[in-house]
Amino acid sequence: MSATPAPSRRCVIWFGTPHSTERALLASSGWHIRAVSPSQAGGVGMRSEDIVIGVLDFRTCSGSELAAAAEVATTYRHLPLLALLPPALDESDIPLRHALSSCRHRLSHPLDPAELLRQLASLQQASTPGGSDDALACLIGESGAMLAMRATLRKFAPVDLPVLVTGETGTGKEAAAHALHRLSPRNGHPFHAVNCGAIAPTLLQSELFGHERGAFTGATARRAGLFESAHRGTVFLDEIGDLPMEAQTSLLRVLQEGTIERIGNNQSIHVDVRVLAATHVDLEQAMEQGRFRSDLYYRLNVLRLTMPALRRREGDIELLAMHFLHEFRARHLIRARGYTPAARQALADFHWPGNVRELLNRVLRAAITTDNELIDCADLELSAPAETRTRLHDAHLRDERETLVACLARSHYNISACARLMKVSRVTVYRLCRKHRLQLQSLR
Ligand SMILES: Nc1ncnc2c1ncn2[C@@H]1O[C@H](COP(=O)(O)OP(=O)(O)OP(=O)(O)O)[C@@H](O)[C@H]1O
Ligand SMILES: [Mg+2]
Repeated sequence: MSATPAPSRRCVIWFGTPHSTERALLASSGWHIRAVSPSQAGGVGMRSEDIVIGVLDFRTCSGSELAAAAEVATTYRHLPLLALLPPALDESDIPLRHALSSCRHRLSHPLDPAELLRQLASLQQASTPGGSDDALACLIGESGAMLAMRATLRKFAPVDLPVLVTGETGTGKEAAAHALHRLSPRNGHPFHAVNCGAIAPTLLQSELFGHERGAFTGATARRAGLFESAHRGTVFLDEIGDLPMEAQTSLLRVLQEGTIERIGNNQSIHVDVRVLAATHVDLEQAMEQGRFRSDLYYRLNVLRLTMPALRRREGDIELLAMHFLHEFRARHLIRARGYTPAARQALADFHWPGNVRELLNRVLRAAITTDNELIDCADLELSAPAETRTRLHDAHLRDERETLVACLARSHYNISACARLMKVSRVTVYRLCRKHRLQLQSLR
């Protein structure tokens, strides 16, 4: 395939129906406009050279189309989206809220045409190579672990090699992959993300590599796959450990030869794509069990980026909690503007198994439900620090008593032997017995 550079066009994909005046305004300002129904958005195609902005027109979406619009926001996650809101909006609708949260800007009724152009220009600025102030701005955190992670990202970005991103769930693997793309010379070209575990294995091959018309039952038209449409950009393969064997072989070909084959056609097509992959399963183990090709593993694991768990990012939890709250405040009318000291302590004490995503969800829930200016522990559904400390203290006492009883039994209730076993003095053993109300006489 030719890699001849084509000039960039500024395009708006309008999910819904633009008014004729809006069409005219955009055309006169140099925007190509393409209107699609949200329910038929699956067929949206774009040239990799184009600068593309999505407009979700909630004014003209109704009923089932709202759910389809929410789908658009999920499918085109990295398409900068602008929402146009109708005069009355039912924000209790979950798909709608989800779709809105994916939109970078919103414009309310009545639509100000100058503001529409201004917002499109600002989204264009953010999507153009070098146009972003800081691609890393979406990765909040000043802890040592985050500073090191950002330094690694900067080193990896210009090197056109695959990167394997690892880390616990919700640590920001996809956010980091996107930042890596934006820092790289491929910024301005597509960034396509796909969750390999979320697509049926029978469909995945076609999703990634495309198919010819008639290649299988239901293939009524030729379709370019994700790799082809990401030409000159980046493909992010999330949950790479779930990639079926057939797709692993095809991916190896992309990495080794830079070519793909559509299903139903054995002609090689050249694709220029950087592959980023993420996993939270142990690929080494999958390889040993024969579920993951070792040649593919070694190709993917050239550069490795490890996302630190939130509990290891000292100071970042409060920073992120404030950031998420301020972001939410900027878009919604809410009372909450900060946290009580107890809530701040509870945030710092919590273990965060779901990492940043869990923090984000707790903050948003609290911001919506609280009637106060300061969010408290109960709003965050976290135990108050005193309760946490009491529970830790109780657990410590229980452990201490169990250890003492076990050592006494092992040393046949001989205090000197027990003291040696516990590596403490005899006096301490007596003191612990008194503390835990153990009657040596009756135990012997
Ligand atoms: N450092 C950060 N600063 C701000 N937001 C962040 C940060 N890290 C993650 N997020 C946000 O947290 C959420 C989860 O991040 P992301 O989807 O990248 O995690 P993940 O590691 O890919 O999760 P999973 O393993 O479940 O796929 C997203 O909304 C993301 O924008
Ligand atoms: Mg992810």
